Amino acid sequence: MRIGILGSGLMGAKLGSIFARAGHDVTFSYARSEDKLERLARKAGGKAKAGTPREAARDADAVLLAVHWLRFDDVLAQAGDLSGKVVITCSLPMNADDTELVVAHSSSGAEELAKRIPGARVVAAFGTVPSEVLFGVHAARRRAKRPSLVYCGDERKAKNVAVRLIRDAGFDPIDIGPLRLARYTEPFTMLIARLAYEVKGGPELAYRFERFR
Ligand SMILES: NC(=O)c1ccc[n+]([C@@H]2O[C@H](COP(=O)([O-])OP(=O)(O)OC[C@H]3O[C@@H](n4cnc5c(N)ncnc54)[C@H](OP(=O)(O)O)[C@@H]3O)[C@@H](O)[C@H]2O)c1
Repeated sequence: MRIGILGSGLMGAKLGSIFARAGHDVTFSYARSEDKLERLARKAGGKAKAGTPREAARDADAVLLAVHWLRFDDVLAQAGDLSGKVVITCSLPMNADDTELVVAHSSSGAEELAKRIPGARVVAAFGTVPSEVLFGVHAARRRAKRPSLVYCGDERKAKNVAVRLIRDAGFDPIDIGPLRLARYTEPFTMLIARLAYEVKGGPELAYRFERFR
């Protein structure tokens, strides 16, 4: 698949590198330095390259949106028309100092994003785990029991694209339903963040749901 990364920071750089290692054609975009994007592309190897947000989105089969909530308008303006695109968002609607969700309960960042780009096919995925665990999960992908990763969205085919990438990253995808369920996953991430960053043990933390019948 061709994957455009909009936001090449902690999440975008790692997920883009993992997708490139899985054989996808990745374009890294949206960082404060062009050099950083070039470096990321070289390090990721394969067909990875650096580009502008518009170039990253243009021919992409999927776009990963991985920017701060306050950067949404800017990156979306730079990306151009996303109609028809699968847009996978791991972004959370955080306030400026990253201490609180500014949208919750009656809406979610993912739903607000979908309202801003009504022609796009938005899926919320990857936002429920800390960036620090991504390489570890990918490295452990051949283990029998993979960590879970919840995702949601309103369109089956767009969700199938996300499922492929979730599996490539080493997770077990859990479809929780339509995009409005991001109202629950985004606050859930605050719990994960608490465990990752404020409780002993470190941020290399993923989760796994199991059923006992
Ligand atoms: N980090 C996590 O563990 C985690 C986990 C779950 C969800 N999330 C969510 O995922 C999203 C991305 O998080 P992140 O931690 O990856 O953020 P980040 O490291 O700050 O990355 C954001 C990217 O946006 C770029 N950027 C910021 N301002 C810019 C500007 N003015 N012009 C051009 N580029 C600019 C940054 O450039 P530089 O590379 O130059 O800094 C960086 O590449 C957020 O919504 C966050 O809430 C994060």
